[in-house]
Amino acid sequence: MGHMRIGMLTGGGDCPGLNAVIRAVVRTANGRYGDSIVGFQDGWRGLLEDRRIYMQNDDRTDRLLTKGGTVLGTARTHPDKLKAGIEQIKQTLDDNGIDVLIPIGGEGTLTAAHWLSEEGVAVVGVPKTIDNDIDCTDVTFGHDTALSIATDAIDRLHTTAESHQRVMLVEVMGRHAGWIALHAGLASGAHLTLVPEEPFDVDAVCKMMKKRFQRGDSHFICVVAEGAHPDPESMTLREGGIDEYGHERFTGVAQQLAVEIERRIGKEVRTTVLGHVQRGGKPTPYDRILATRFGLHAAEAAHAGHFGNMVALRGTKIELVPLADAVKQLKKVPTDRYQEASAFFG
Ligand code: F6P
Repeated sequence: MGHMRIGMLTGGGDCPGLNAVIRAVVRTANGRYGDSIVGFQDGWRGLLEDRRIYMQNDDRTDRLLTKGGTVLGTARTHPDKLKAGIEQIKQTLDDNGIDVLIPIGGEGTLTAAHWLSEEGVAVVGVPKTIDNDIDCTDVTFGHDTALSIATDAIDRLHTTAESHQRVMLVEVMGRHAGWIALHAGLASGAHLTLVPEEPFDVDAVCKMMKKRFQRGDSHFICVVAEGAHPDPESMTLREGGIDEYGHERFTGVAQQLAVEIERRIGKEVRTTVLGHVQRGGKPTPYDRILATRFGLHAAEAAHAGHFGNMVALRGTKIELVPLADAVKQLKKVPTDRYQEASAFFG
């Protein structure tokens, strides 16, 4: 194809590496092919309200490689609002003469990209999320950065927990999938990891903790994914209802579990909720490289007319997978991976 006009947006929660993708798309599409790049602002909202900036392969764009967040801005949009706005989105794309749209986002953004693709819009998706829960790709950028931050925090909690002979609960992100918890737990030698995929029994948790202290060990570190749930017979978790984007509102599982543990085993328990610190700041080298390769391949796919796909890491290669396949289900922690980790529990 000759010169194209490429639209781009970042949607959903931000994630370290988004700017590295943006830079790679601009360098490839504008720098290599002379394409025009239109960046829509604040996720799908930019397309609903026709708010955009123009980007080119200059020094300012080049320096985005290491910068956290997203210069395009991002936002969460309720799926119903998006569905209702599809015609408006198509209109904005037409008005701006966009030949291909590159949405960079998680499950929600890629699902919207899939709807658009079914309506005949040319799209090439780029998966992002610190949660690592997008299917059909081995990993998403942002996960490694979040994992490094969580691991560093847990390493530090080990020494203070040891000094005070305490139980420490560390709540990490992971709404439906426990990848951050699983990996951070393994990397930092946590004594237990609780993930959304495996409901936990509070009695069993307490028993494991007691046993460790009885053995004479000094402390107990437990990593808890924010979306982890107790077996309802062992403990009742406060309900938080649904937020304006249709997501379950969390009520702090680690803090509630801490109260139960203190009550049941009489040990001092402290809770650390890592929260959005896991998503902030510059990406790790691994995430910079993955994001750069995703951006490069997305721009190339846009040029080659390979629409309706998402770039994905398969082994060491970047491949294209149909968006339809990628958004069918979330990539959860499989039971055998959790069992592997459990060899180090207690
Ligand atoms: O999807 C990424 C994520 O960071 C989740 O791990 C977390 O549950 C959610 O976003 C938090 O969303 P918000 O930034 O809207 O509080």
